[in-house]
Amino acid sequence: MQIRSQLNRLIQRACERANILVDRVQVNEASKVAFGDYQFNGAMALAKSLKKKPRDIAQSIVDAIEDNDILEYVEIAGPGFINLHLSNNWLSTNIKNIVQDRRLGIVAKENPSKVVVDYSGPNMAKQMHVGHLRSTIIGDSLANLFTFLGDDVIRQNHIGDWGTQFGMLIAYLEELGEGGEGSLKDLEEFYKRAKQRFDEDENFANKSREYVVKLQGGDVRCLHLWENFIDKSLSHCEDVYSKLNIKLSREDVKAESSYNDDLANIVNDLEAKGLLKESQGAKVVFIEAEENPLIIQKSDGGFLYATTDLAAIRFRASKLGANRISYVVDARQAEHFKQIFSVAKMAGYVSEDVKLEHVSFGMMLDKSGRPFKTRDGGTVKLIDLLEEAVERAKGAISKRDSYEQEELEKVAEIIGIGAVKYSDLSINRESNYIFDWDKMLSLEGNTSLYQQYAYARIRSIFRKYNGKLEGDVILEEPQERLLALKLLQLEDTLYSSAKEAMPHYITSYLYELSTLFMKFYETCPILREDTPENIRQSRLILAQITANTLRLALDILGIKVLERI
Ligand code: ARG
Repeated sequence: MQIRSQLNRLIQRACERANILVDRVQVNEASKVAFGDYQFNGAMALAKSLKKKPRDIAQSIVDAIEDNDILEYVEIAGPGFINLHLSNNWLSTNIKNIVQDRRLGIVAKENPSKVVVDYSGPNMAKQMHVGHLRSTIIGDSLANLFTFLGDDVIRQNHIGDWGTQFGMLIAYLEELGEGGEGSLKDLEEFYKRAKQRFDEDENFANKSREYVVKLQGGDVRCLHLWENFIDKSLSHCEDVYSKLNIKLSREDVKAESSYNDDLANIVNDLEAKGLLKESQGAKVVFIEAEENPLIIQKSDGGFLYATTDLAAIRFRASKLGANRISYVVDARQAEHFKQIFSVAKMAGYVSEDVKLEHVSFGMMLDKSGRPFKTRDGGTVKLIDLLEEAVERAKGAISKRDSYEQEELEKVAEIIGIGAVKYSDLSINRESNYIFDWDKMLSLEGNTSLYQQYAYARIRSIFRKYNGKLEGDVILEEPQERLLALKLLQLEDTLYSSAKEAMPHYITSYLYELSTLFMKFYETCPILREDTPENIRQSRLILAQITANTLRLALDILGIKVLERI
């Protein structure tokens, strides 16, 4: 149920009927219960241009609201706020309608978009690090969300598998010979050793350089070594994906190297369009109002990260037919994407109506505010981090003793991984993110465990009660009404989260929902004997939909729930 857009339309029409010109009416959720359920505060802003008192304007709008079944009553408050109170009847009918619906009444978009979500994108010549962790978690949840709302989603894992480092890595792989395979198990060690060989041994360094050239020239043996190396490193990433419950597969990998053959075409095309200029021997594109040009080809003929991204954006718009391309990449690449987007539009690789967005995110910091590193300053291995999450989760489960060992592992996995993902998703992605084990595994506050507990609590009610759910939804107690309204706000939340690519709108919603449920649960007895049957039924329906909502929204975020904790 998209409540907000219904109210927007209602007020918009009222303004038209009252001959008040408003560009786009925007109602908001009321900030306090006393202000109703929603508010329209536009009258104050209109006062100046209309040369009328805001209260009078508000009155004319209110008088012009047509008959409807969504509003119970409307009141004007203060200088001219319009407070909108939804009808209980409307709320309970709509709640009743979704109790059996797996999609909770949320209809897929009428005009779906084709959306490319570019996320994860680890570099194969380096250990996958915490920056990629954030991209992977945020990107995957957005891809899930877009899919749920009906978009045609294409996941793209733009892995870094090309560049001069690979000469060194394959030279080292070759040197190790048959036994080399085993040493790829610990990639971090492997990079370190290869680099060491490169720095110490002139012959090895020369060979590495030679291999870069051979690789670029398509030498079969070098290509073979390289493919083998990429395959193994990708499997390491896939271990992380599977542990994290991330839906990226090999089919989603569209590596940097896959654009190699197109890079010269990009240069020629930009040249033909008169966009290419020479600057200090390099070929560049100057962008209006930007100080630095975008370098397309270096003076030695080499291509850059940016050249590949231009080829990729052209491929995505023209071959994949994307209307929206979301790059989930850390904030330090903001300038890069700004330039790519500008040049892509200048060159006509994407039409004006395609939405290009850099879904940027801040750094992952430790509790003292420093970049997240191991104790000795090295990169944290993601797989170790995830294993630690599972270990720590065991400590967070209160009734640990009541589990069989095997079940405890399963439960801890769901709680630990859920905590890592949820805590990342629950802050505004633009800000830096402080990674704090204690906070993310806490039972209190906006954590995944809090949501999972709320879910498990409801499931326990339905283990005691397994009769039918029938009858009307009765909203007499304030807690019942607040819960019902919150449940019906899921659709608005999902749509605005998708529109702005902000997953934390969903986690905030979940936190409010669970908190409201807990209050409802304390004040409105469900299974107690003295609860009249019709009230019990109504409350069971509310509880059931709360559980369904928690499960659905967490599932979109890629987080699992448990029947009991
Ligand atoms: N491999 C890049 C990095 O690690 C991320 C790729 C992002 N996607 C893109 N189309 N540039 O920084």
